[in-house]
Amino acid sequence: MLVLVTKSASEGALKAFDIFKESLSQGDKVFGLATGGTPEELYEMIRESDLDFSNAYSVNLDEYCGLEPNNPHSYHYYMQEKLFKVKPFKESFIPDGVIDEQVAIEAYESILKEYPVDLQLLGLGRNAHIGFNEPGTPFTQRTHKVALTHSTIESNQQYFKESFVPTHAISMGLQSIMDAKKIVLLAFGESKAEAVQLMIESEPSVDVPASILQLHNDVTIIVDEKAASLLTK
Ligand code: PGA
Repeated sequence: MLVLVTKSASEGALKAFDIFKESLSQGDKVFGLATGGTPEELYEMIRESDLDFSNAYSVNLDEYCGLEPNNPHSYHYYMQEKLFKVKPFKESFIPDGVIDEQVAIEAYESILKEYPVDLQLLGLGRNAHIGFNEPGTPFTQRTHKVALTHSTIESNQQYFKESFVPTHAISMGLQSIMDAKKIVLLAFGESKAEAVQLMIESEPSVDVPASILQLHNDVTIIVDEKAASLLTK
């Protein structure tokens, strides 16, 4: 694990941008993408850059169950707005949260087989989840349907002003994430400090999903000083 501590989140986003740029220039073709607040600045840098993904593919980590792609809270919509409408990929894949879940899961697993991820981008949950793999998820898990934890549903409530707050999602599993050739994880701010410390310094355990990354041979963790504040080594 390579851990880079930057002064600010913007500096961290810039480091991640450089990793994407290098990966693209080396001929990498499949990019694993993430949603949430953390990668927004990186996506903005990509939107404003001359990077060209039109010959590359993207696969996203997860999608809520029950939200149509045109629902502003769906991750389909997020990706369209934050990246794809300015930087289109040759093809972009995101789990289908609307069709029969078993069909969606099998379809996504075959996409991941056909398009093995070269560079996977990750954010980090306050409880150290990656994708929607909450504590307790087996390390061997592949794409699956997830019941969101009470705290995730609650923290989503602020964004979902209308009544329907999703309770489930389809997510790449921890094993699907570990299959990526390279992984870059971003975590910024004090609220991530405890998860960062556990991810890096605790023994790998299903209680800390992101600790599985210690077992991968090409991971770069980019954290700002606030998120790094509880690291002891
Ligand atoms: P955030 O979410 O980027 O919105 O903090 C990260 C995550 O929960 O994976």
